[in-house]
Amino acid sequence: MKNKQLVIKQFSETIGAATEIIECPVPKLGASELLIQNKYIGINALYDRELYRGRVPYINVAFPYVFGVEAVGVVKEVGSDVKTIKIGQAVSTVKVGTAYQEFQIISANDAVIIPDATPEYLTLNPTGVSAYLALRNTAELADGETVVVSAAAGGLGHIVTQLAKQKKCHVVGICGKPEKANMLEEIGACDRIINYQEEDIAAVLAEEYNNKIDVAFDSVGSYMFDAFLANLAPMGRLVVSGLATELTAPKFEQITGPRVYESIYWKGASVRCFMNHLFKAQHPEARDFLFKAYQNGALQVKVDPASFTGIESIIEASEYLLAGKSCGKVVVAL
Ligand SMILES: NC(=O)c1ccc[n+]([C@@H]2O[C@H](COP(=O)([O-])OP(=O)(O)OC[C@H]3O[C@@H](n4cnc5c(N)ncnc54)[C@H](OP(=O)(O)O)[C@@H]3O)[C@@H](O)[C@H]2O)c1
Repeated sequence: MKNKQLVIKQFSETIGAATEIIECPVPKLGASELLIQNKYIGINALYDRELYRGRVPYINVAFPYVFGVEAVGVVKEVGSDVKTIKIGQAVSTVKVGTAYQEFQIISANDAVIIPDATPEYLTLNPTGVSAYLALRNTAELADGETVVVSAAAGGLGHIVTQLAKQKKCHVVGICGKPEKANMLEEIGACDRIINYQEEDIAAVLAEEYNNKIDVAFDSVGSYMFDAFLANLAPMGRLVVSGLATELTAPKFEQITGPRVYESIYWKGASVRCFMNHLFKAQHPEARDFLFKAYQNGALQVKVDPASFTGIESIIEASEYLLAGKSCGKVVVAL
């Protein structure tokens, strides 16, 4: 059986130049492993970009390197020692270097049984898991706080806004397109939506939320980080979950100014970074919470309506996300 894969063949600035599609036979299954046919794969274009630029410090990229992190699929074969998962079951997998291929072989311990291999379960695990753990562990979000979320209509952001609303927070969602603002409106978790194409983000926050932001959840960086930092409440927490503007620029912006503590010391405020894989031990608990919330209707999961199909379309889907077009989670169907 042949397996089509998107692999990194060399480090480069663009996904097109860094990758190629290859076809290999599916290797033999180990006793504790599963063969999974991937049905949907999640696109993490900003993370991938760092990978094919050779800039993720904890990953050793040996060419050709299959990449992609999360997939949902159906079990095609099980190893002789696997007793907990059966052929035909739907599973979710989250492992760096596994997703951008038609079939994957993975340890049965790394597969989570799900009711259906749908894009919604793909979004919950791991994007939803990141939203949940970042709010709970890194932001230490408390009931009723004021939370400002950038890229709020993206895969991660739309779940962050809803989890914050479940804690009765005042939620401000920031986005960059009218259709994204409409999606946030439809979800109904934001008390204030700011489309930064229409309103000046720094000016609005200074006028409406000066000294009032308990938790700023930022995936954008640069001007967004500055606007959040300037308006933190006493003991406010600025959570850096992503750096989209910096990671899509040729290099990090060099700034000259007082060190970050100048603006937060007297407030006892802080800047904190979130990194999903460092909370691995808590993933099962986060998944359980999110799956239940989704199943009982307490959490809406939005998948980007753009249709991408086949390993060939991963590059297009990635470029779409990097162009800032995503509205919900960007996925590729296989
Ligand atoms: N730290 C972690 O462990 C972890 C885990 C998961 C995700 N993340 C990060 O969280 C962020 C959200 O991930 P996602 O997959 O759900 O993506 P996403 O939010 O669906 O897409 C990224 C969004 O960022 C905004 N953006 C602003 N400037 C951008 C730029 N220069 N290039 C691209 N996008 C830009 C755009 O929204 P607007 O137009 O509305 O601004 C865009 O839609 C990413 O930065 C990702 O790397 C981090």
